[in-house]
Amino acid sequence: MIRSVISGCGSYLPARIMKNADFEGMVETSDEWIVQRTGIRERRIAAEGETTADLGEAAARAALASAGLTPADLDMIILATSTPDHTFPATAVEIQARLGMHHGAAFDSQAVCSGFIFALTTADQFIRTGHARRILVIGAETFSRILDWTDRTTCVLFGDGAGAVVVEAATGRGDNSDRGILTAHLRSDGTHRDKLYVDGGPSSTGTVGHLRMQGKEVFRHAVGIITDVIEAAYAATGLTSDDIDWFVPHQANRRIIDASARKLGIPPEKVIVTVDRHGNTSAASIPLALCEAVGDGRIRRGDVVLLEAMGGGFTWGSVLLRW
Ligand code: UT7
Repeated sequence: MIRSVISGCGSYLPARIMKNADFEGMVETSDEWIVQRTGIRERRIAAEGETTADLGEAAARAALASAGLTPADLDMIILATSTPDHTFPATAVEIQARLGMHHGAAFDSQAVCSGFIFALTTADQFIRTGHARRILVIGAETFSRILDWTDRTTCVLFGDGAGAVVVEAATGRGDNSDRGILTAHLRSDGTHRDKLYVDGGPSSTGTVGHLRMQGKEVFRHAVGIITDVIEAAYAATGLTSDDIDWFVPHQANRRIIDASARKLGIPPEKVIVTVDRHGNTSAASIPLALCEAVGDGRIRRGDVVLLEAMGGGFTWGSVLLRW
């Protein structure tokens, strides 16, 4: 059986750190409120002129280096983003060009904060059907560009960044001892679209627009739908929370992460948390967290890793893999 194994990962964060205290003169908020309600202490903000392609390219190069590969080895690039450099072409082809890659295919995938889960699952499908052997999956965002900096209910929550992984075909036995993606589950329900959206777009307003969120409503749905796709992963594999070595959730809010882990019975020491330093980086948050935990030696070969996200749409999904 063909399995999709992650053979390298890399990430990139813009240099500028924006701390909670930096908002205090801009909107009516406080470090205390932000930390208590979200767990966020600081986030990175892209420099003027620094784009999603810049962040994604840096993460991509780091992922390729960690896999010991060059762009010539790739068959495909899938970029998860909701903040592309342009309406078209896809930012993935911009990164493809910068990597000097003239072969294969590159395209963007749009599922907001679940984008990396959707892109990784798409890569898994191409690999398991034999259509591609090596795919670069990137999550890159510059959410700072779509924030309403006068809206305290949203502007304090998000940050910029990028993470990337190289996914490679490997032969497995078809059971849970295999390395690679063991199961993946994607969901969406467009009836929730008004709870988290951007109020502009090429076909509606002709503008880029700003992020709008009914935070309490998103929060109310989050834990339930997150655990739903994780239970689907357990049902598909026969694994349980006891088998999980590392839980790498989308980093939106520390309270959502803690409540999800508690409901699933995953102890806090197995949960990777970066939201305190990155804020919510949408499609970049999971690869950023994953790469941090791989880089510092927490996630090791053979570990069972559970990835999960939910976001605008709503979209949500899980990927269960053996590192
Ligand atoms: O990545 C996609 C998924 N996104 C998420 O998962 C986000 C989900 N939602 C959340 O994380 C939380 O709902 C928020 C962090 C956005 C808000 O936390 P909350 O505990 O749900 O607060 P709330 O919206 O109920 O607001 C409580 C109060 C309100 O004031 P009143 O009406 O009680 O007087 C807000 O106006 O806090 C006020 N508030 C703030 N105060 C200081 C809202 N934002 C701020 C702020 N600083 N930045």
